[in-house]
Amino acid sequence: MLPIQVIGSLNIDMTVLLPRFHLPGETITGMDFRIYPGGKGGNQAVAAARLGANVHFVGMLGEDDNGAFYVRVLTEAGADVSGIGKTGEAASGIALIEVDKTGENRIVVVPGANALADDTHVRYHQEKLPDKKICMLQLEIPVYTCMEAARRAHANGDIVILDPAPAIHLPDSFLQNVDFITPNEGELARLTGMPAGTMDNIQAAAHALIGRGVKHVVAKLGANGCLYVDRERMLHSPGFRVDVVDTTAAGDSFNAGLAYAVANNYPIEEALRFANAVGAVSTTGAGAQSAMPTQEDVEKLMARGSRDY
Ligand code: RIB
Repeated sequence: MLPIQVIGSLNIDMTVLLPRFHLPGETITGMDFRIYPGGKGGNQAVAAARLGANVHFVGMLGEDDNGAFYVRVLTEAGADVSGIGKTGEAASGIALIEVDKTGENRIVVVPGANALADDTHVRYHQEKLPDKKICMLQLEIPVYTCMEAARRAHANGDIVILDPAPAIHLPDSFLQNVDFITPNEGELARLTGMPAGTMDNIQAAAHALIGRGVKHVVAKLGANGCLYVDRERMLHSPGFRVDVVDTTAAGDSFNAGLAYAVANNYPIEEALRFANAVGAVSTTGAGAQSAMPTQEDVEKLMARGSRDY
């Protein structure tokens, strides 16, 4: 199995459970409030470690209680935290999350220390791990840092998996160093400027990304599973039926499942099915990380079968 280096964000999620999303200017009463570890980078690292991957994390925290808490979380999950820097110049990242009764979420991120995860810090920790590996990236640390990390990883022969979230315009020089990109429908539309409301739209937008240099597009479709597109093939892998409590980090869990499968050289059909199952199980508990599955949990769900729409 290839090792996985996750280069990305760590946030503390302040999560409110609401009866429904409210309107501008409206005050409503929440049903619950919890504080969880989160951030797309941290979530992907914890999910991959829980599956049994060998995970090394590179990122930045504040010199505060939240930072100390997060180092414990990652260590307990089994990740190597030697690539985490601490800064006194900003607080650890925070996310304000609203979750409604259906498990849907809305998120505001205040990057704090994540914004100080610079290229010098990341380069040092990439060069310390010269073996071929999976490099997992998202876009919650500075985009220049991500671009340079992808460039070095690609040159090293690593397999680069980019979760383009939050989505912004990305130059082709970045996309050319990406092996797998995993947008949801909204992110795909923002990345390409094309509609992504139907399977045909998604396929066309995915081909546009392939034309710009990405090798494999895996569009995340929520309960509908995912759509895989490369130069030759298009595959739809249906989602799994689960009782959804909270969809926060379902995409991060999916990415961890995909990374684990690629690290273990699964054929693409199996990799997509495995990633769908990891994402689905993660929605069955509250908070980003509480329901992230072990291998055993994933196998149980996969034995029950998929549903198609
Ligand atoms: O993908 C979910 C994550 O997005 C949350 O944990 C939050 O911290 C934001 O980064």
